[in-house]
Amino acid sequence: MTTAIVYYSKHHGNTKKLLDAISSADDSVELIDVTEQPDADLSSFDRIGVASGIYFSAFAKQIIAFAESHLPENKDVFYIYTHGAPVGGFLKGIRAVAKKKNCREIGKFHCLGFDTFGPFGKIGGIAKGHPNEKDIAEAVEFYRAL
Ligand SMILES: Cc1cc2nc3c(=O)[nH]c(=O)nc-3n(C[C@H](O)[C@H](O)[C@H](O)COP(=O)(O)O)c2cc1C
Repeated sequence: MTTAIVYYSKHHGNTKKLLDAISSADDSVELIDVTEQPDADLSSFDRIGVASGIYFSAFAKQIIAFAESHLPENKDVFYIYTHGAPVGGFLKGIRAVAKKKNCREIGKFHCLGFDTFGPFGKIGGIAKGHPNEKDIAEAVEFYRAL
């Protein structure tokens, strides 16, 4: 079973912290930063994780655009994301892309991520300390159970 996780994690590297822990638990996982490998070929992987911080209530536009052009058809996909606000329909856009490609959703994991965007920065940020050790351990657990 080969797994790639494509990601965009630029605000505080919150999402990347989860991915680094997953990659430490399973060193066969390939982590692909879409800003560094915009033409990555995912066709040889059995499972594709799509991971992002949440920007304006959605996965980063960079990862949505990457998925539109590079997510192969008929793959098993899972989602990992971090967000500053407690709730939101954050998966809508990325799910629509995966659906167009006839991909099967096999799981999702999300947790809070330190957020200093806009006015939150002025008050020292929200979701301070996240992802914390528990969040990270739960992300690894999620991955192992896929
Ligand atoms: C420009 C910008 C927009 C954001 N919009 C949202 C949002 O709509 N909802 C939310 O819950 N968090 C929002 N956040 C907070 C991020 O989702 C959160 O900090 C996340 O953990 C960032 O992940 P990263 O460090 O992996 O990029 C936003 C952050 C930035 C910088």
